[in-house]
Amino acid sequence: MIIHENRLIHEIEILQESFAKTTTKLIKDVKRQDKIMARSDKRQQQEYDELQRKFAEVEALQKEIEDTQKEVVFTMGAIGESRSKETGNHVKRVAEYSKIFALHYGLEEKEAEMLKQASPMHDIGKIAIPDAILNKPGRFNENERKIMDTHAQLGYDMLNVSDRPILKMAAIVAYEHHEKWNGTGYPNQRKGEEIHIYGRITALADVFDALGSSRIYKEAWSDERIFKIFKEERGEHFDPKLIDIFFDNLDEFLSVRDNLRDVTD
Ligand SMILES: [Fe+2]
Ligand SMILES: [Fe+2]
Repeated sequence: MIIHENRLIHEIEILQESFAKTTTKLIKDVKRQDKIMARSDKRQQQEYDELQRKFAEVEALQKEIEDTQKEVVFTMGAIGESRSKETGNHVKRVAEYSKIFALHYGLEEKEAEMLKQASPMHDIGKIAIPDAILNKPGRFNENERKIMDTHAQLGYDMLNVSDRPILKMAAIVAYEHHEKWNGTGYPNQRKGEEIHIYGRITALADVFDALGSSRIYKEAWSDERIFKIFKEERGEHFDPKLIDIFFDNLDEFLSVRDNLRDVTD
């Protein structure tokens, strides 16, 4: 009986030993598996981080390009305006007014923002007008007026060589900002909606700002006088829908004017 029990104990011991071995091996396997997993997780994480870093770089580059483009476009507009005795803030205000008109007219935010950047270039063609005419004090004679009026076509020709959407848009603005709703504008006597909405908007934004600003040769018009002529020119010089937008959202336009006042005013 004792012998029998001893054998049983011995067999149990062997079993325990074998169980312990198996368990140790199993634990080792699990640990190794964990390490492999951790290593692969780490590699994946690194790859992910690297991608994120590259993505951020591309984004920063993209923003840099966009900012540069905005600045170039804006500077070009300012150059055009400086040649036409306008102040630096004139183009900024026209830009803001144009965006307000565009949004209320129903253009998408992105397109409205683009028009804000393109509209300051409306007079870029003036860089090609001779100084003697451009800087002439007082009224132009018929011939000088004709030469002045070529700035619309000149601006279009300058800008339309580019395939960049913003410059294409600026080309339209330069070309059509002196067209009138009733077909008596220049250079093509386009009528109504034949005139691109970009041209119609910039025309009104530009005139609103020009009338309300003082120049060496003229006082700023009072608001009453501006409002009166806008009502008279509704459907004549200007798109009636845009005139309605102007009066319906007057506060927005006036607050831009307040925030971007000329220092000399
Ligand atoms: Fe102009
Ligand atoms: Fe202007």
